[in-house]
Amino acid sequence: MYVVAGATGHTGNVVAEALLSRGEKVRVIGRTAERLKALAAKGAEPFAADLADAAGLAKAFAGAKAVYVMLPPNLASSDYPSFQKRVTDAIVAALRSTGVSHAVTLSSIGADKPDKTGPVLGLHYLEEELNRIDALNVLHLRAGYFMENTLAQTGIIQNMGMAVGPLHPDLKLPMIATRDIGEAAADILLSLDFRQKETRELLGQRDISMSEVAQSIGSAIGKPGLRYIQAPDEQVRPALVQLGVSSNMAGLLLAMSASLNSGYMRALEQRSAKNTTPTSYETFVREQFLPQYRGKSAAA
Ligand SMILES: NC(=O)c1ccc[n+]([C@@H]2O[C@H](COP(=O)([O-])OP(=O)(O)OC[C@H]3O[C@@H](n4cnc5c(N)ncnc54)[C@H](OP(=O)(O)O)[C@@H]3O)[C@@H](O)[C@H]2O)c1
Repeated sequence: MYVVAGATGHTGNVVAEALLSRGEKVRVIGRTAERLKALAAKGAEPFAADLADAAGLAKAFAGAKAVYVMLPPNLASSDYPSFQKRVTDAIVAALRSTGVSHAVTLSSIGADKPDKTGPVLGLHYLEEELNRIDALNVLHLRAGYFMENTLAQTGIIQNMGMAVGPLHPDLKLPMIATRDIGEAAADILLSLDFRQKETRELLGQRDISMSEVAQSIGSAIGKPGLRYIQAPDEQVRPALVQLGVSSNMAGLLLAMSASLNSGYMRALEQRSAKNTTPTSYETFVREQFLPQYRGKSAAA
């Protein structure tokens, strides 16, 4: 039996569905049984638990052949690093007490770095703490920048007529669709082809800059020549806070952007067939950005 944390989220949901579709037994974790109903209807065993509760997690992990673990984002948290640490410590305690032999974690490019990476620093801690469990075989999937992050541009483009953000316009980033992460994680869980402590990067279909992102969005929404502008931190910070992001989290996101812009935080592996995934940014725009943009346009 597999156990999937964050099973109603972007990656966990794909992991759970992929395992179920291959006939595997899957226990899915979320905070409420209600939100796990759709997976339960497909044959998963729903398990309501808070990822910061070690005792609850130990029950959820009991009897697992392997687990998929991730740290939930918590944009409104006034102290996100402490939240990440609480969840990591609970996951570690539950893995130790149950003696689960295999875990796949959702990590990120930049998780190798011990500082200046904002929310990714919590993933560095997650990797280090899981690596200290002697009996555990663990694979940390260091994913690139989520294409879904660019969905925030729907409202910005509608309000300002251009794409805006803290990243340098020409910075090429390995951008990945979260469904590709879920599919890759499910394949790895099925084969369990890792031993001891390993990391593997997942870099999406190709590296792409925010200028190219804007071009791609522009052609899809009928605004060819749509521009992307890099805004200074003093402008991005209040805009994030207005969207409901805590000032703590806004600071972390800006620190991460600065480390991406400077190249301090970057992929370490050469691109290869193994770390390249299928979904292109253009496909993402057609299938996910456009419907959301049109939904917003219709509502505006
Ligand atoms: N954004 C990026 O570019 C990027 C890049 C690399 C790595 N990452 C990492 O990816 C991770 C996010 O992955 P994701 O997008 O798959 O997450 P997600 O879609 O936000 O899903 C997280 C799920 O966790 C559940 N959850 C939230 N708080 C919980 C709690 N306290 N206890 C139990 N369950 C809880 C939620 O389900 P319920 O509401 O049903 O409880 C939610 O569906 C983060 O660790 C982030 O650092 C992000």
